[in-house]
Amino acid sequence: MPAEWLVGADGFVPKERYTHPRFLELEEDHLFGRVWQIACRVEEVEHPGDVVEYGIGDQSVLVTRAEDGALHAFHNVCLHRGARLVDGCTSAPDGGLRCPFHGWRYALDGTCIEVVDADDFTALPRPLRIPPVRVESWGGFVFVNLDPDAEPLLEFLDPLPAVLAPFHLEQMRLRSVLTTVLPTNWKAAVDAFNEAYHVQSGHRQTLPFVDDVSIVYELLGKHAHYGRLPGARRVLRPSPRLGIPDAEVDEATILRALVSGLGGAFLGEERDLVDDLIATGPPPGQTLLGAYQERRMTLLARRGLDVSGLGPDQMTSVEDLYLFPNVVGPVYPGSAILFRARPVPGDPDHTYHDTFVLQWPDPDVPPAPPKRRDFPRWRERDWGTLTMQDYENVERVQRGMKSAAFRGLRLNPRQEINLLHMHRTIDEYLTRATVVV
Ligand code: FES
Ligand SMILES: [Fe+2]
Repeated sequence: MPAEWLVGADGFVPKERYTHPRFLELEEDHLFGRVWQIACRVEEVEHPGDVVEYGIGDQSVLVTRAEDGALHAFHNVCLHRGARLVDGCTSAPDGGLRCPFHGWRYALDGTCIEVVDADDFTALPRPLRIPPVRVESWGGFVFVNLDPDAEPLLEFLDPLPAVLAPFHLEQMRLRSVLTTVLPTNWKAAVDAFNEAYHVQSGHRQTLPFVDDVSIVYELLGKHAHYGRLPGARRVLRPSPRLGIPDAEVDEATILRALVSGLGGAFLGEERDLVDDLIATGPPPGQTLLGAYQERRMTLLARRGLDVSGLGPDQMTSVEDLYLFPNVVGPVYPGSAILFRARPVPGDPDHTYHDTFVLQWPDPDVPPAPPKRRDFPRWRERDWGTLTMQDYENVERVQRGMKSAAFRGLRLNPRQEINLLHMHRTIDEYLTRATVVV
């Protein structure tokens, strides 16, 4: 890799990292070819015969649940003449995948079980098996890694599993996966959700409800970041930028904003809870916020969430997860919204953007299969005000970076530290590659 594309010692991030096709090629081979990445949720491959395709750059991987219940992953390619076996997600109720081209058939562990007119082939190696891909799971997510020599998943994630354990992500259910294509580099799509510095301008309408300046960004090992308000400030309050005195803060307005979308995928019941509390007022000696936190905790416990690892203040806080390299989003008690960015093959200016909506299951309602929807043009759907604002900005930034006057990113060392850390970690992967090659 050209040395001038590395992140500078002063934190300067050259723009070619976002715009140059060669840089994307390096990322496809030496970053996405080596890291653990979320392919799907466990509940998407719950039943024998379930098959999910995970595409990353020009590589495609199939995650399958075999008849014996084992989870497998292997490259999505037919060993005859190289056709893609499967496009998208499917199910193989008869336990096999048939290549559409000449009809070779594969078991759900990738072993070829039928070659049409097999007697004609005298030199086929046997057994014939599509090379497997490493697959492991944590938190209800299925991760794959194209590098057979990669460290175990839990080592890669450490210490994130311990930090997120109280949320019991493994017990949440995937409600939907929405995919679109954004006209931006995959990293710009991650960046837009990985700092709160843009809130004061990009989401100015939220400042009456959001303390955007007190967030602390923690690095959790090499492959995760966590952004949250420190304990003492983990109360709902307006941005300090607005200078509103504490006595004038209206908790009712903030709570309503929280449950009407600001806080993510809150349950209908929680909206009713807020309406009820505002109508009747908090019990004597309690603030509205304190009463809401307590009742929300009871509600979640009633739904079967073990709330013992969560504090009352976490009932109303937003904690943002970044999982290197390409997943970012808020995690709440009882729900999570995670955005995954995947480069469009060979195109540094476009990104597949997947939104995973996870929700705590209602114990009285049988789980519904997750909904998958594709929106090839992002403007065709209303993604909600906040996300629309973010999507507009990622398009703007990719177009703007092409300017001859722009050389690279100058990041805020406190509020955009996540972005800098991501770039430095990418360099670790890419320069390791350069030495090996
Ligand atoms: S390419 Fe798959 S059977 Fe020929
Ligand atoms: Fe945003």
